[in-house]
Amino acid sequence: MGVKSKAAAAILVLLLFLGSLWLQGGLDYHWDSCIKGYNQVNKLHQLSNSSGADGAEGSQLLEGCPGQTFQVSLLLSHLLAAPAYTSDVLLQPYLSSWDELVKFMDALGPMVGLISKEIESKTSIIRQLALLAEENPEAELGPDIHSINSGSTEVGTKKDLGASQHTGAYHSVRSMIWVELNRGVVDFHHQTDSGCRTLLRLHRALLWLQLFLEKLAETPVAGRLRSPSELCREAYQSTLANHHTWFVRRAAELAFIAMPERGFFFRLVCVQNQDELSTVLNRVVRAIGEVYNRTQRALEENGMLDLP
Ligand SMILES: *[C@@H]1O[C@H](CO)[C@@H](O)[C@H](O)[C@H]1NC(C)=O
Ligand SMILES: *[C@@H]1O[C@H](CO)[C@@H](O)[C@H](O)[C@H]1NC(C)=O
Repeated sequence: MGVKSKAAAAILVLLLFLGSLWLQGGLDYHWDSCIKGYNQVNKLHQLSNSSGADGAEGSQLLEGCPGQTFQVSLLLSHLLAAPAYTSDVLLQPYLSSWDELVKFMDALGPMVGLISKEIESKTSIIRQLALLAEENPEAELGPDIHSINSGSTEVGTKKDLGASQHTGAYHSVRSMIWVELNRGVVDFHHQTDSGCRTLLRLHRALLWLQLFLEKLAETPVAGRLRSPSELCREAYQSTLANHHTWFVRRAAELAFIAMPERGFFFRLVCVQNQDELSTVLNRVVRAIGEVYNRTQRALEENGMLDLP
């Protein structure tokens, strides 16, 4: 596909997106953020440089990648910090992981960057709710975190988490579910801006990114590597597309056409070849999997997988 037709597709997608819904929430796109996304991508192309990544399986964290806004090492450390107790997920590192994933999406071009704007609005809804809960602690039905995470063997770690964590209601996925259910703010029939409903939207998008990264990490035994845009579309079709209207599906699939080639992803995470990319991405995919599975179980146990 030539540059001109890519541009034409991009403009079409932009128009489609402006009038549609992404994660079934209100879209609030701004032209300036769109232009910012475009400039950022251009800058990333210029800054691209590959300094060898460590990639060693044993080392706990990855090295930083100079010249990139998105840092895969930061993403991994946030993801690894999120699981807590036996089956819970801490919201602060969960949302920080999303901050990094938003930078990842922004790097993939202005069209995917538009999707990330919607993600950002979701993370800020939960952050707002957490702030409100902290400001009005008297209004809070403070749950006993230990009863929520019953069976926990890590009782001692709670105090060590420090004051930087959200406390109370929005400390973790399970505490949020517990508090919102008790306050009656989760509506199972109508659309609301509850934390649970918002989390579900993020949760669904996380599965899409997990699958995309998993596919990007695959090295076929025979045959050639497939294009990221094809893999991203495939990942979308088997995940998020199930929750989208026909209109949003068409727009999303167009957005993936303009996705960068594989070499771009090498530079984005500072690796030289597909083997190194697989090593890095597989670690990220496993970390996402742990977070995703825990969130999935918490939502499922509370019948929240279909919140409108
Ligand atoms: C690019 O990486 C090489 C080593 O891989 C390094 O010597 C060089 O200084 C880097 N350039 C920039 C602009 O970071
Ligand atoms: C998450 O759950 C899936 C399906 O139940 C399983 O295949 C996968 O190994 C789990 N991932 C992790 C990291 O626990």
